[in-house]
Amino acid sequence: MSIETLHTIAEARARVLQWQREGLKVALTPTMGNLHSGHASLVQLGLQHADRVIASVFVNPTQFGPNEDFDRYPRTLKADEDLLASVGCHAVFAPSAVEMYPDFASGKTNTLLIEPGPIAAELCGEFRPGHFAGVATVVAKLFNIMPADVAVFGEKDFQQLFVIRQLVRELNFPIKIIGAPTVREANGLAKSSRNQYLSAEEREQAGLIYQCLQSMREHCQAGRASSEIESTVHARLSERGFKPDYATVRDAHSLASLQAGSTHAVALIAARLGRARLIDNLSFALHA
Ligand code: PAF
Repeated sequence: MSIETLHTIAEARARVLQWQREGLKVALTPTMGNLHSGHASLVQLGLQHADRVIASVFVNPTQFGPNEDFDRYPRTLKADEDLLASVGCHAVFAPSAVEMYPDFASGKTNTLLIEPGPIAAELCGEFRPGHFAGVATVVAKLFNIMPADVAVFGEKDFQQLFVIRQLVRELNFPIKIIGAPTVREANGLAKSSRNQYLSAEEREQAGLIYQCLQSMREHCQAGRASSEIESTVHARLSERGFKPDYATVRDAHSLASLQAGSTHAVALIAARLGRARLIDNLSFALHA
């Protein structure tokens, strides 16, 4: 099956509106490209909820910090189109940076950025200032450009999904957000475009993150204090060559610290290994 690639905002909006006029339900799967089987699963989930799926492939400059990997982030549109077509995606919106941010050529992006509030300064936000404002802004733009019925995002980016749900709720976007389960390598490593910054040896080593998440779940369910769990995992990762940004257990509904009344928790880790910054999480019920 071939896929239709749309490069302009006008074309992408027209395609979605045309499908909806025909009575078809539309799912959007926003991505930054360099797609892998984790992204394929987003499209497949979209197809379960809609008649047409449109993916976006756009490396969004506003969510990268000045010393981050915006320039070296892999851009592989041809391979992305092939993968999307192979799983039944109907169209891809692949705009240039200037199409999305008209002043990009003169070094500027949006003047107006959506500030997600205090949650954007915690966890990944503490280590990537401005990141979630960039994500919230581009996702709002994508929702305005392609007014789909549902949008699918990976649960691997737990905090991002949290921010996007808040964006939709607080700015009244008429779109349903669906979280897609994380796809993993055989050793538990969560699939991510950034895994390609790892050597073969580091990829093996990186399976430790999932092992740590599983032990955080076990200890948390056994009633051990979050602070103890966090320091043990920090030490375990550091001993094995990782530079952890955080390893923490939070309330899965609010992302705040666990409270006596919390029913669901999420263990979250962000750690650097070699040239890659890896993030992963595991959510679970606290009481059987
Ligand atoms: O998760 C991603 O790939 C990006 O953060 C997103 C949601 C496509 C926004 O650029």
